[in-house]
Amino acid sequence: MHLSKDNSKIYRNCREMSQEHLEYEDRVNLGSYYTPPKFVEMAWELIKPYVHSQTIIIDSACGYGDFLIDYGQAATIGCDIDEDAIDIARKNTNKVQFFLTNALSNVSREKFGIPQQSTRLIVVGNPPYNDKTSLIRHKIKNVDFDVDEDIVSRDLGISFLRSYNKLQADFICVLHPLSYLIKQTNFRHLKEFTANYKLIDGALISSGEFPESAKHTPFPIIIAFYRRDTMGMDYNFIRSFPFKIVDGLRFCLSDFDYITNYIRKYPSKQQQPVPDDSLFFWTMRDINALKRNRTFVQNYSSNTIVLDKSKLDYYAYVDVFKRNLYRLPFYFGNCDVPIDDKLFQQYKHFFISDAIRHHPYLEKHFQIDMIEEKVVEAQIDRYFRELLGKYHQCNTVSYDLKCAF
Ligand SMILES: C[S@@+](CC[C@H](N)C(=O)[O-])C[C@H]1O[C@@H](n2cnc3c(N)ncnc32)[C@H](O)[C@@H]1O
Repeated sequence: MHLSKDNSKIYRNCREMSQEHLEYEDRVNLGSYYTPPKFVEMAWELIKPYVHSQTIIIDSACGYGDFLIDYGQAATIGCDIDEDAIDIARKNTNKVQFFLTNALSNVSREKFGIPQQSTRLIVVGNPPYNDKTSLIRHKIKNVDFDVDEDIVSRDLGISFLRSYNKLQADFICVLHPLSYLIKQTNFRHLKEFTANYKLIDGALISSGEFPESAKHTPFPIIIAFYRRDTMGMDYNFIRSFPFKIVDGLRFCLSDFDYITNYIRKYPSKQQQPVPDDSLFFWTMRDINALKRNRTFVQNYSSNTIVLDKSKLDYYAYVDVFKRNLYRLPFYFGNCDVPIDDKLFQQYKHFFISDAIRHHPYLEKHFQIDMIEEKVVEAQIDRYFRELLGKYHQCNTVSYDLKCAF
């Protein structure tokens, strides 16, 4: 079945207006970044086989209601905390039951008139993902609505996922940052959710595809399709999950070994600086943080790691990696730095030469003969092509872009 004529009209009307009724500050506070139609369609392609005449569809952060498509289901529910958005959504369709309410407080089926049993409940949509404590734009973040104690989180998106569990949805197909699943601390925060849901499909898209997003460091978003399953899922399940990327390819975290298996990412109290002897490295987080941050630094601060000099080669590796980030597609954004250690041992000399060229003060710490720059570049290029294989991107990268990292 295809979208009915009526619905495709709703679709276009909403798109023409986007979230323009909101001032910039409110968009940030409400996480109002409306979804491009192609992603709404991708989500619907996943849920269609599960929608039947007894199904109830709900989008509890529905904006203008773009996800609320009539596919012959029993009932359709839209909810948003933004009055103007709900007013616009109401004008677009009369088949949906709308609620102007905070979806995160007093969460229950009764709140939306959904029967407790014998109906299939499917959540669809793109809830806000707004880290209330993140430093980016923190001056204007001011999300002060109530959130039920059992679903509270510093990230609104995580609270939304927990709210779907509270509603006991049978299926959930929503967009959310991939980091919720692949960062172990986030995964742990989703404990009740991951105990009750299993990812059955997931496609990775770039936040850069959202019109108002920050373009310089896009982050990976997953169109995630979950099924209620009391066996749940553990982190190893996510590590080996084949996420859909472009051209029918799949991306799997366990395809790689990571630098975290060789060196510490964060400062440790045990390692204090020794005057005139210590070497320092900026705290490492993920690939996107590496894009923004420095690597070797000359001064100690609370953000620096005092290097274990016996591991200096691996820090040189990360330093070179930073200059080669343009080779990585967006979906590596929240991963640690990948490494093929066996291969690296063969190419180490070239990496060290490159690190010394960029940080001459390191020379005295490595006993190596410097190699000609052109040779180094060619060998490092070979390493990265072999490491990344099918994921290697940017065969023809401009020099300017290369220098931007
Ligand atoms: C990313 S937008 C998605 C809108 C629409 N579903 C779409 O994808 O085009 C997130 C929406 O969540 C709404 N929202 C934010 N906090 C909410 C809350 N506590 N309860 C209900 N809606 C909320 C915002 O007003 C915004 O419309």
